[in-house]
Amino acid sequence: MRFSNLLAAGIVLLTASASLAQTPSYTNVGRTPTKEEIQAWDIAAGPDGKGLPPGHGTAKEGAPIYATKCASCHGPAGEGTPLGRRLVGSKADMWTLTTVQPLITIGSYWPFATTIWDYINRAMPRNQGGSLNANEVYALTAFILSKCGIIQEGDVVDAKTLPKVQMPNHNGFIPQRFEDIPDERKRGCRLGTCP
Ligand code: HEC
Repeated sequence: MRFSNLLAAGIVLLTASASLAQTPSYTNVGRTPTKEEIQAWDIAAGPDGKGLPPGHGTAKEGAPIYATKCASCHGPAGEGTPLGRRLVGSKADMWTLTTVQPLITIGSYWPFATTIWDYINRAMPRNQGGSLNANEVYALTAFILSKCGIIQEGDVVDAKTLPKVQMPNHNGFIPQRFEDIPDERKRGCRLGTCP
């Protein structure tokens, strides 16, 4: 009796795995994405401004949005907290970039203003990427640029003006000189600071 029960269970199992192993039919699986679905993925904005959508914002408009959606992690003035990096810095911090403890902020390091837009639009607030509308992202970009002393509080940031914003470290990126990397002395570096 027990044996036949086991046998019956075995037959059931065998039948189940045999049906799993059958090649499934792929008809009606997948479809052409809609225009809206492609647009939702195609969000990259480049340094020339290509890809930036219509919309606009000022630092003044960005301040209250920043306070409610960003300050908890990046600090009320963009100074950073243990939950989010420091965002605000300026030309005056750029000298640290060639030291062993560079102060990497948007103002002191980022070469393109459009990347701020792209990054916020794509990824912020953390774990809620894509939740902000274009005007909010423009306003937040303006807010950070203004806090870094790069634009004025009332300057309107949009697809036309943003690519024209000159970032302080725009020319700070040189092609890597691999041959120099292992030999800081040869490159004239002293106490971790390189010319
Ligand atoms: C829950 C915490 C949190 C919130 C809220 C948040 N951020 Fe962030 N943010 C982070 C963290 C963490 C990083 C670093 C991510 C990484 O390096 O992978 C980051 C990175 C960034 C960067 C890139 C900084 C750099 O130098 O690499 C920008 C710009 C930024 N956030 C802007 C914003 C803005 C604007 C908001 C509000 C809309 C916001 N963040 C809200 C946690 C947060």
